[in-house]
Amino acid sequence: MIGVSVQGVNKRFGGIQVLKDVSFTANEGEFVTIVGPSGCGKTTLLRIIDGLEKADSGDVRIDGRPVSGPARECAFVFQADSLMPWRTVWDNCKLGLELRNIDVKANRGRIQELLNLVGLRGFEKHYPRQLSGGMRQRVNLARALVVDPDVLLMDEPFAALDAQTREIMQKELLRIWADQRKTVVFITHQLDEAVYLADQVLVMGRKPGVIADEITVPFERPRELSIKRTEEFGKLVERIWGTIEGVIRETGGI
Ligand SMILES: Nc1ncnc2c1ncn2[C@@H]1O[C@H](COP(=O)(O)OP(=O)(O)OP(=O)(O)O)[C@@H](O)[C@H]1O
Ligand SMILES: [Mg+2]
Repeated sequence: MIGVSVQGVNKRFGGIQVLKDVSFTANEGEFVTIVGPSGCGKTTLLRIIDGLEKADSGDVRIDGRPVSGPARECAFVFQADSLMPWRTVWDNCKLGLELRNIDVKANRGRIQELLNLVGLRGFEKHYPRQLSGGMRQRVNLARALVVDPDVLLMDEPFAALDAQTREIMQKELLRIWADQRKTVVFITHQLDEAVYLADQVLVMGRKPGVIADEITVPFERPRELSIKRTEEFGKLVERIWGTIEGVIRETGGI
């Protein structure tokens, strides 16, 4: 089954073509990462998949159904810390259900299971200010998963984290993904993150945003962080960097 299908998507803002003929598919349960220089249209593409933005032309489907408005099958995880500071960890998680009018009481078990899964058992009554950045992103993830989406859309979720926490979160995310088996589309600027997480890496060009390269990542799962230091891994990162460098050169700097 195909989880996310994007075919021939074009998008203009004013006179500027941001996305041009963008096509890719993510099979159900597949992990796709998107990299590309700033302003190439990554967030726009994710918003189109989520139905928050409308494509000018092209076809976008989730689980085979055309997207025609905010997609209930998708959950978004943003870079910015989008937790409500006046709500506890538990109440922030519950918000995902409330926003979709899903019965909270009937899902108490699920909230607890997910908080356990993301490693926050015992922190249910804490407020966001009492948590580290990594822990706050774990709450964000639990909140996204609580509605049991088919597709998880993640826009640079770990960008604000320090290098060590980020690595831990990458490994954790793969563990959680293996448990939940969602289709994931994940944007990042960090090339090693893109390769480490993905089944498939999409490299975007800019002005207009096109898919400049598509890479199938061959490493077996589960993956140890140490694969990042292998030659094969380094070669994939180098290939992506080569493409992005070319795009930046052609389109006039960062
Ligand atoms: N609502 C909007 N109205 C007008 N222009 C927009 C809008 N949203 C995005 N753009 C423009 O579209 C282009 C792509 O933006 P987008 O945010 O998708 O890029 P991005 O690849 O996510 O960049 P970054 O890596 O910096 O997050 C940019 O030139 C941006 O100015
Ligand atoms: Mg963006």
